Amino acid sequence: MSATLENRFYDLYTEYFHRAEATRRWNMLNDIPWDLARKEVPDYIPYIVESFCAVELYLPDYTSKILQLVRRSRGRAWFQANWGYEESKHSLVLEEWLVRSGNRTRQEVTDFADTVLANEWNLGFDSPRKMIIYTMFQELATGMNYRKLRERALEAGDEALGTALQFLTKDEAAHHSFFRDGVKIFMDEDRDGTLCDLAEVLANFEMPAQEVIPDWESRGKRIVAEKIFSDRIFLRHVVRPILNNLDVTREELKELSKSTKQVDPEAEDPYADSLAVAV
Ligand SMILES: [Fe+2]
Ligand SMILES: [Fe+2]
Repeated sequence: MSATLENRFYDLYTEYFHRAEATRRWNMLNDIPWDLARKEVPDYIPYIVESFCAVELYLPDYTSKILQLVRRSRGRAWFQANWGYEESKHSLVLEEWLVRSGNRTRQEVTDFADTVLANEWNLGFDSPRKMIIYTMFQELATGMNYRKLRERALEAGDEALGTALQFLTKDEAAHHSFFRDGVKIFMDEDRDGTLCDLAEVLANFEMPAQEVIPDWESRGKRIVAEKIFSDRIFLRHVVRPILNNLDVTREELKELSKSTKQVDPEAEDPYADSLAVAV
């Protein structure tokens, strides 16, 4: 990475970090109205909370493997360490809700975590640039998952889960913004190369850890069935807004992606194969 690029990443990280410290820190024990957690919510809610928790539980793999990939970039490596801290709270708070609401016992949660971690997640892409593009899409999609689930939690009268998911949604939005601004830095240096990578990432996109989470097929189907997430939501609320924000036209992406699997952001459901059971 050039010195100029590295300096911009470092500035991006310090700005992110100071803003997070000043405006976005939350306390799991003090900031959630735990007495409002409810057992009497529809069954799919704890099932999907547990499924999202499984995705968050691969934190040791996400942090170690991505850190190794970006360790020479101080801006990205320090970000990744801070990201790991923030993400670690996500599985903790989701597990806490499962137990405090009475939907799972502490032992069930522990056993589930052990089962999940018996498998290992591996990097989907082998370059720092492709991984930052991937995480740019993944973080916005994850935020969308939590936003939709939060609406259902509030409809079911669970202010504890609603509050927890609001914190998670804000964290994921901040992660997405960092990665998106990082992609813009790469685009400033090599727009065509970055967009070729973007086309490749989109053509192969799937949410993290689906291939390793036990029982994911039925979990993913339930998430789609309950309209928490779907290919269509991904296209409308993740892909199109990101391409607009990056000021990338469909024509430009199509032209550059000819050497990879074709991606058409205007197609009604272009990810139907890879995202059939996607979160
Ligand atoms: Fe998260
Ligand atoms: Fe995140």
